[in-house]
Amino acid sequence: MSVADKVTTSRLLEMKRKGRRIAALSAYDAPTAALLNEAAVDVILVGDSVGNVKLGYENTLPVTPEQMLHHVQAVRRGNTRALLVADMPYLSYEIDPKEALRHAGRFVKEGGAEAVKLEGGIEVGGVIKELLRVHIPVMGHLGLTPQAVNRLGGYKVQGRAVKDAEKMVTDARILEGAGVFAIVLECVPSDLAREITRKVSVPTIGIGAGPHCDGQILVLDDMLGLSPGSPPRFVKRYAELRPAMLEAVRRYAADVRSGKFPASEQWYR
Ligand code: KIV
Repeated sequence: MSVADKVTTSRLLEMKRKGRRIAALSAYDAPTAALLNEAAVDVILVGDSVGNVKLGYENTLPVTPEQMLHHVQAVRRGNTRALLVADMPYLSYEIDPKEALRHAGRFVKEGGAEAVKLEGGIEVGGVIKELLRVHIPVMGHLGLTPQAVNRLGGYKVQGRAVKDAEKMVTDARILEGAGVFAIVLECVPSDLAREITRKVSVPTIGIGAGPHCDGQILVLDDMLGLSPGSPPRFVKRYAELRPAMLEAVRRYAADVRSGKFPASEQWYR
């Protein structure tokens, strides 16, 4: 890999200007990060979705900065090319900007993250400016912000009412003004995502926000068919790994029980 290949925040801005779509995915461990690099994914987000998809929590709220750091460090060890973004977990940035600096600083200094993501609009403008003051690039996140699930009353499409849509456009402009390098738009009607994408100079990365965003992101376990149950409408399943894994593990257990495994080629003489 040449230095020119490394994805940076300025590369993403250039991609928007040139109309080149950004491919982003979440990842939580080193081998998966290496695989995403092999597939030339542009942005790897160590999402707080780690709470639901890896740690067995019901939602993202219990995830701690320590848990995030552990996964950011693992992903960093597997990543060479993609821009590595670490999610700021719930209550690590909302209460005190100094706390936000401390946590984000650890993600960069100890975890090797190249940027952080945080959820919200006008209310996080000040924190974003603080993070930029110490040279930490920030990705915004509007629409369905999972850390607000209790206030939003569930995982629903956001911005359907005119006043909500107008607020989201205003929030996007505020995030842009505060200095974010990109904005995730989650579960937003596609017309609204198009309007925001046109109105801001930074790339929008959609998840359930239609085709007009500058890039797309999915939770890796959802698109690989690793998550149990049926995924949200906006997920495209590119593989069905869970049934394949279940079948493999069942066959292994049956072989152990019947004595078929290990066979002679699997033991040492
Ligand atoms: O936590 C996460 O994985 C995310 C993406 C869904 C955008 O925030």
